[in-house]
Amino acid sequence: MSKKPLNIGLVGCGFMGRTHSNGYKRVNDFFDVEYRPVLKAACGRNEAAAKAFADKWQYESVETDWRKLVARPDIDAVDICTPNNTHAEIAIAAAEAGKMILCEKPLSMDLVEGQKMVDAIEKAGVPNTVWYNYRRAPAVTLARQFIDEGRLGKIFHYRANFLQDWTISADLPQGGAGLWRLDASAAGSGVTGDLLAHCIDTALWLNGPIASVTAMTETFVKERKHNLSGKVEPVKIDDACAFLCRFENGSLGLFESTRYARGHKALYTFEINGENASVKWDLHDLHRLQFFDYKDDSITRGWRSIHVSDGDHPYMKNWWVPGLQIGYEHTFVHQVADFLKNLGEGKSTSPTFREALATQAVCDAVLDSAELGQWQTVVPV
Ligand SMILES: NC(=O)c1ccc[n+]([C@@H]2O[C@H](COP(=O)([O-])OP(=O)(O)OC[C@H]3O[C@@H](n4cnc5c(N)ncnc54)[C@H](O)[C@@H]3O)[C@@H](O)[C@H]2O)c1
Repeated sequence: MSKKPLNIGLVGCGFMGRTHSNGYKRVNDFFDVEYRPVLKAACGRNEAAAKAFADKWQYESVETDWRKLVARPDIDAVDICTPNNTHAEIAIAAAEAGKMILCEKPLSMDLVEGQKMVDAIEKAGVPNTVWYNYRRAPAVTLARQFIDEGRLGKIFHYRANFLQDWTISADLPQGGAGLWRLDASAAGSGVTGDLLAHCIDTALWLNGPIASVTAMTETFVKERKHNLSGKVEPVKIDDACAFLCRFENGSLGLFESTRYARGHKALYTFEINGENASVKWDLHDLHRLQFFDYKDDSITRGWRSIHVSDGDHPYMKNWWVPGLQIGYEHTFVHQVADFLKNLGEGKSTSPTFREALATQAVCDAVLDSAELGQWQTVVPV
């Protein structure tokens, strides 16, 4: 069957620009979907760098101003892979131009800005998705399947961590290429929007809405040289954040994230304890789901490590043969595959902008709680 072309205009030629490009290139090799992504244009502010990126990933053309890209009639979908402070402007312009939108996380700098994005996207009625890609690690999708099947029963506890160690040095500057995550004016927040947002998205997907939170944050290094101004400036991001929460289903949540956990590079873990069973997952071992089922025979009962590589496991029949695992980059291929499949059915792909706004609402409540030193109710979206 000849596939319908879907012309992609990608904005931002950094880390996520690469993972998404890989997803677009691989998807039709492994997934039988009606559409074929065409790498039509890559946009970066530096022409030589954008050109080098476009050559490497085989984009047909280059733009240096995202406004030109959004205005091009030959672009069907705009993919936003730029720092957080640019998402809203690009997404709203793309929606007004009638483009489909795939936007990196966190959706926005804060809830107010995110609401404006959702309003624009819903008014335009364009298919959309936000790249909370960890939902599509097959082991995480399998956890969702177990929950939906009732294997865990009533859920009591949800626990998640996202730990890194790359900002411990006080000599590390803030701002500019590669270090925009330390600059609140580009990132919005620190680990809350960058890392906990992933944990929150997964939690909302697996365990439903969060009702209220109480949080603490810390900025361990108070001043850093700013790469753009050249001056030493206050650091306004949260270096670490921990919060407790109550889910609407009555379960309790415990979340922690930091960039000061020496020895950890990207340790995203979660554990869910239900009345019948528990699951746990670890990004460093992402092809496994740990599962404890109380209904097992008492003599053999114990944690089992499910190697999520069987054809019966989510997404896996599209890849190799049972026993052979896949990795990080495949989560992006899966999101592209689901986007194209849903497009064929006239639907957006979860998490949509509105669903990502729910994550933003939790992030905002967490940051407000830390500032005010009190429990905060999460604004329903
Ligand atoms: N889903 C995930 O797991 C994941 C992982 C990393 C980053 N992200 C998100 O992806 C986004 C980008 O992060 P990254 O790690 O790729 O950053 P990056 O710094 O590697 O790349 C960002 C790129 O955007 C370019 N850029 C900045 N402003 C631009 C503009 N106005 N027009 C065109 N290009 C512009 C920069 O020059 C850079 O090349 C962020 O929102 C981040 O939170 C998501």
